[in-house]
Parts: sequence; C-alpha cells; structure tokens
Amino acid sequence: MKVGIDKMHFASSHLYVDMTELARARGAEPDKYLIGIGQAQMAVIPPSQDIVTLAANAAYPMLTQADIDAIDLLIVGTESGIDNSKASAIYVAHLLGLNRRCRTIEMKEACYAGTAGVQLAQEHVRVHPDKKALVIGADIARYGLNTPGEPTQGGGAVAMLISADPQVLALGTDSTLLSQDVMDFWRPLYRSEALVDGKYSSNIYVDYFQDVFKGYLSGTKTRAEDLTALVFHLPYTKMGLKALRSALPMVSETKQEAWVAHFECARKLNRQVGNLYTGSLYLSLLSQLLTDPELQAGNELGLFSYGSGAEGEFYTGIIQPDYLKGIDLGLPQRLARRRRVDVATYEKCFNQQLAWEATDQTIDYHTDPHRFVLIGQRDEQRQYLDQWA
Ligand code: COA
Repeated sequence: MKVGIDKMHFASSHLYVDMTELARARGAEPDKYLIGIGQAQMAVIPPSQDIVTLAANAAYPMLTQADIDAIDLLIVGTESGIDNSKASAIYVAHLLGLNRRCRTIEMKEACYAGTAGVQLAQEHVRVHPDKKALVIGADIARYGLNTPGEPTQGGGAVAMLISADPQVLALGTDSTLLSQDVMDFWRPLYRSEALVDGKYSSNIYVDYFQDVFKGYLSGTKTRAEDLTALVFHLPYTKMGLKALRSALPMVSETKQEAWVAHFECARKLNRQVGNLYTGSLYLSLLSQLLTDPELQAGNELGLFSYGSGAEGEFYTGIIQPDYLKGIDLGLPQRLARRRRVDVATYEKCFNQQLAWEATDQTIDYHTDPHRFVLIGQRDEQRQYLDQWA
C-alpha cells in the first residue's frame, strides 16, 4: 500500500524585507547575504501571526470536508511554542473545525519535529488506511536584531495531509536516523530568541547529512546515482548547498550537474522566505515540485531533515502522477504579491510580538489579510479570530 503526502500548502506573512537593504543597514556587503548566506528576501512576521495562525492559515485552504471527516491525528511540529503546557495543535484543530475524535499533539525537536510528525503519521495511516493525518511544521525563526543569525530568520508553516494512495509523494518505509546530545542551538525557556553556535551548527549539519545519507544508501542498498534529486532542510539556502557539495563526489559528473540544477529549484522559494525551522525542508520540497521543469512522476527524491540539538534523518519519496493536483500552485504568485517593508518596519514588527507577561494586550490586526489572526491576550489567554467568518 502506498502512503505519503496527499496535499501540501504553505502560509507565511504578507510582508518581507529585502536582504540587500538589510545588509546595507547592518554594514555588510549585500553579496554576503545574497550569495554567502544565499537569501534574497526574508518574511517579516507581524504580531498578528503566531504559530497557531500560521499553521491554521497553511492548512485551511487545502482541506475538504471529506478530509476533515477522515483526519484523526493532528501533529504540529514547532520550536516556537506559545504555551508551556497546552499544545498549539488544540487551538489549530479548533480554528480548522476538526473532528473532536482526533489525537491532537505538539512535537518538539528543533527543526526536525515536522519530519518526526510525518513519519509517525505515515505509520498511523498504514495501520488505519481509511484515516488521514494532518502534519504541520510551523515556526518563527528569531535570533535577534543585529546578530550573526539575523539574516537567517524568517517564518511560516507548511501543512501536509498524509493519506493512503497519496497524490503528491509516496513515502518509503526505510529511513536512517541519528540523534546525539549536541549544543549547537537551543532556546532556554526564558528567551524568545535562539542561542546558536552558528559555525559549529553548520558543521554538525553537514556531518549529520553525511552520516545518515551514507547510512541510508548502505542500509537499503540504494545507489546515490538512482536518486533524482536531494532535498534539504534549509535554515539558509547556502547550508543545503554545502551539504549537497559534500555528496557530489559520490556520483557521476552528469548526475552532479543534474543534482545542482535540481537544487537551484529546491531553494528558489526558501530564498524568498528565509528560515521556518520545522517547515523549511517541506517548503524546499514544495519549491522543487513547483519550480522544477525537469521533474517527472516516478522520480525518487532523497529528503534530509535536521534539527539542532541534534537529530537528523534521511528518507525518500516517489513523485506521484497527480502531484500537481495536491500542491499549493498559487504559492509563487502569493510570494510575489507580498509587500516590501523597510528595515525600520521590520524591526518594529520584530519587537511588537505579544509580550510574555500577564497583562491584557490588544494587537492591531486590521492590515493583516490572512483568515486567522492573533488579536491579543485577555485574562492570560491568547485570543484568535477567523476574520473572514
Ligand atoms: N560575497 C560573497 N560571499 C560572502 C561575502 C561577500 N561579500 N562576505 C562573506 N561571504 C560568505 C562567507 O565566505 C561565508 O561563506 P561560507 O560559509 O561558505 O564560508 C558566508 O558568506 C557567511 O559569512 P560568515 O562570515 O561566515 O557569516 P557570519 O559569521 O555572519 O554567520 C551564519 C553566518 C550562518 C553562521 C549565521 O548567520 C548563523 O549563525 N545562522 C544561524 C545558524 C544556522 O542556521 N545554522 C544552521 C544549522 S541548522
């Protein structure tokens, strides 16, 4: 039985900052950000969006009533939690109008938790093929203004419906994992910005990729040459390029050229959004599926997921004949229609997030065009609104 990704949809902000402008404001060469980091634009998340609204905005447009009736598992993978106890998924399930008989949980392991969700969901559907699972990776990447990590921020959510007989990608049942205690990136409970040893984390990322990629190839007797393309978790797009380059000596020159060309498509949309932690690998998959003219049904993609701390996984999926029917076809146009804001506005948005304190707060959401918005906090409870209802 085939099980895998049946539908995929993305949501982020309607605002972005141009990386050339940000580089100039920070006294950096624009090419450092554009080429050295590999980012052209960065999503600016307004205070009216958090992981709950991003997740709900990502999932809502792709779900039919039949999907909603069949979903009995919702997993939100995130490292931008909004509560120490209650799962963001409960709010999301409510906003989406999901079935009450639904297992509804939040998962955490840095940028890896979305993949953990996908794998648990596919196992769930293999046991219950008449059911569907909704997996959403939703995050806001925050390192702080004027920090080395600043050009690798961003935010957004990718929602994936996992089902039997999927339209988009049939997932393999084999995968190779690696998890070890590594202090490359973490965020203590008292901080809203991550702490990172940037160079170290980039090196660990490539080491993990090499380990699980080679482990997968030898463990499953797969030839690297047979994989059409490699899709990476992209905290910034140069990161994936570094990992890809580390794999090129394993294949022929023709395959090397093909992998590099495919990678340019896989990073196209991530270059315009920035990091979205748990969703980054899956935005890259969307980018591959939406912008790569050389892809065909039957092609096998290798997927590398990485979460600092650190956990990595390599697995594969086969593109299905109807894949264009299951993906977010309007995404490139939506990104092109976003409003560019100046650096001062980006900084204001960065500092205007709902404060982590007990006071009642209101958020001006009237210029946010998304269906689901965060409108404030009352009696220490976050207030969400479906402003199109
Ligand atoms: N033109 C082209 N490239 C340039 C350049 C220019 N004018 N100036 C610098 N560069 C290149 C550098 O050579 C470097 O490339 P390399 O990584 O291939 O060596 C790159 O731009 C970044 O420059 P660097 O000086 O290393 O940047 P930095 O010290 O400011 O930090 C990160 C870069 C990525 C480490 C930092 O943004 C970070 O910590 N990000 C978060 C961590 C992260 O995402 N980790 C990934 C694992 S999940």
